[in-house]
Amino acid sequence: MKKTIRDYDLKGKKVIIRCDFNVPMKDGKIVDDNRIVMSLETIKYAINNGAKVILMSHLGRIKEESDKEKNSLREVSIRLGEYLGKEVKFVPVTRGKELEDAVNSLNDGDVLLMENTRFEDVVGKKESGNDPELGKYWASLGDVFINDAFGTAHRAHASNVGIASNLPSGIGFLVEKEVNALSVFNEPEHPFVVILGGSKVSDKIGVIKNLVTKADKILIGGGMAYTFLKAKGYNVGKSVVDLDNLSFCEEILSNYPDKIVLPIDHVVAKEFSNDSPNRVSSSLDIESDEMGLDIGKDTIELFNSVLYTAKTVFWNGPLGVYEFPKYTVGTEKILATLVTLNAKTILGGGDIVAAASNLGYKDKVTHASTGGGVTLEFMEGKELPGVVSIMNK
Ligand code: 3PG
Repeated sequence: MKKTIRDYDLKGKKVIIRCDFNVPMKDGKIVDDNRIVMSLETIKYAINNGAKVILMSHLGRIKEESDKEKNSLREVSIRLGEYLGKEVKFVPVTRGKELEDAVNSLNDGDVLLMENTRFEDVVGKKESGNDPELGKYWASLGDVFINDAFGTAHRAHASNVGIASNLPSGIGFLVEKEVNALSVFNEPEHPFVVILGGSKVSDKIGVIKNLVTKADKILIGGGMAYTFLKAKGYNVGKSVVDLDNLSFCEEILSNYPDKIVLPIDHVVAKEFSNDSPNRVSSSLDIESDEMGLDIGKDTIELFNSVLYTAKTVFWNGPLGVYEFPKYTVGTEKILATLVTLNAKTILGGGDIVAAASNLGYKDKVTHASTGGGVTLEFMEGKELPGVVSIMNK
């Protein structure tokens, strides 16, 4: 059992909380603040218990100096301040006197947010490479370290593993909730059904390998279905196909012919656009100049018939091109079924959670994870360094 924030007396302590504020941004504005909202419980607990709160997070990927401007956490500090109803002091640097002075002038219950930890990647990838000096330096700013960045728990970076190696540590409420919710899959109640979508087979290979023996059925939609259909010998036209993983799909289909459920009909169009004319085609009739953009009505019925018996469901990845409103129908209909089931229903991955949120289903499932890659790694059966590095009770 890992220590949690509850195991520490926080009064008057400088408490570093690693959050995952890696939120989608467009033109400098936050597009979806779910991860900020989900971090509030831990931050409020620390404030209410008299901690001096030092928040850290990454945002985006920083390779060079010019990446910094569009990946500043300043907007996050403003949004967070609105939710907390108090000032969140933004410190625009990741080390040095300005940061140290800001930390030292915190009163009990005050909150500051340090600039993007990945700004340290520009020279020598110090954050992502878990540079020991950097982890030690950041740890020197606090008395206790709380890791609440579930979305980043599959990374061994200076701002999670590095700090945890140098301070008394615990997990926050979000990490605790996520790990508890996902541990359902260690011994899932059967029938256990997995739904996988999204475009790339390569992202899901580990998950398929691990779950194909545990799940009763794996329903496959989205772009990745076309690599499986091609592996079965169908003409998939111009649909997205991951040629490098064709033989993986052939192998899975031949070893587990009854487990993998593929779409039987599709909404196809000649152009990758919301506006081009489309038609419904069976898997047998996709023309060479057409591509599949969503699952069809018969597939929705087929997937529903499998889901009706399910007791545990894990879903990663939309079933159509969900950024085009016309092609969200399959995802929406299956979400509508999901929320009526007498089953534990768990969504993992940014796109399916965003789709569920936009369509009004997010609060009706058992758990919608804030994790993307981390959820997949968890489902692959891998250990999460961000959690492993936290002290045991
Ligand atoms: C995520 O969004 O999956 C996490 O914040 C981790 O981000 P990363 O893939 O850039 O490490």
